[in-house]
Amino acid sequence: MFSLKGKRALITGAATGIGQAIAHRLAQSGAQVAITDRVGVSLEETAALCAPYGNGVVQEALDVRQCAMIKEVVPKLEREGGGFDILVNNAGINRPTKALEVDEANWEDHFTTNVRGGFFCAQAVAPFMIEQGYGRIIFISSQSGLIGIPGQPVYCAAKGAIINLVRTLGVEWASYGITVNSVAPTFIETNLTRERLKKPEFKEFVLSKIPSRKLSVPDDVAYAALYLASEEAAMVNATTLSVDGGWTSW
Ligand SMILES: NC(=O)c1ccc[n+]([C@@H]2O[C@H](COP(=O)([O-])OP(=O)(O)OC[C@H]3O[C@@H](n4cnc5c(N)ncnc54)[C@H](O)[C@@H]3O)[C@@H](O)[C@H]2O)c1
Repeated sequence: MFSLKGKRALITGAATGIGQAIAHRLAQSGAQVAITDRVGVSLEETAALCAPYGNGVVQEALDVRQCAMIKEVVPKLEREGGGFDILVNNAGINRPTKALEVDEANWEDHFTTNVRGGFFCAQAVAPFMIEQGYGRIIFISSQSGLIGIPGQPVYCAAKGAIINLVRTLGVEWASYGITVNSVAPTFIETNLTRERLKKPEFKEFVLSKIPSRKLSVPDDVAYAALYLASEEAAMVNATTLSVDGGWTSW
């Protein structure tokens, strides 16, 4: 598909699930990947998937809830290997909680990880991208940012915030050759959703909303991210690419 030969990519939350698939497909397409995740979370499985392509794999702990860590780790990675051409803000959490039961901690957790973390990672990689006049920043939002889903109001609000954040960043940085977009997936069975999808009534609700009655898989998102990360996607900016099989269209 698209060649990322010579490009350097930073991926957050890359130990598992969608982030792992994105790292794999970017590496397969020629990128050197810096794979990151929370402190103490093993990145070995992702590294083993990426290494055979021979483009270079760097592993680093990066907890996106900690702004100080972002400000320390991103420049360190840049000093060691050069600046980043591609950032994939994938790290995210979902703690489904009904509106009446949401407490401040639940609100803070969602917004700190999903929104604030991604914003400050983008801010950290942007100076190099601005200087070189080229960059691709991709957030993994969600269909939950485009529609309401009962039982997860804060996740929906946080993902909606990302969708408007990429509009703003994309417009603000467009003149520097940087695009900022998001991918909005439907349900994929990962650690994030596995328990909920085990409930037959919830799984049936999900399948009833996807016209093909099929769950998505991590590679569906990885290939969308690969396109947005490519030079060919230069005119796709400040927008969100739905990867939801049609859920949000009916
Ligand atoms: N699975 C789905 O159905 C689905 C649908 C739409 C959007 N998404 C989004 O896709 C992204 C990846 O989700 P997934 O399904 O692969 O989930 P996952 O739980 O399998 O993976 C998330 C990864 O992010 C990491 N992470 C969590 N908090 C972090 C932090 N503070 N700092 C750094 N890393 C952190 C985790 O350790 C994990 O490796 C998330 O942003 C999620 O909201 C998932």
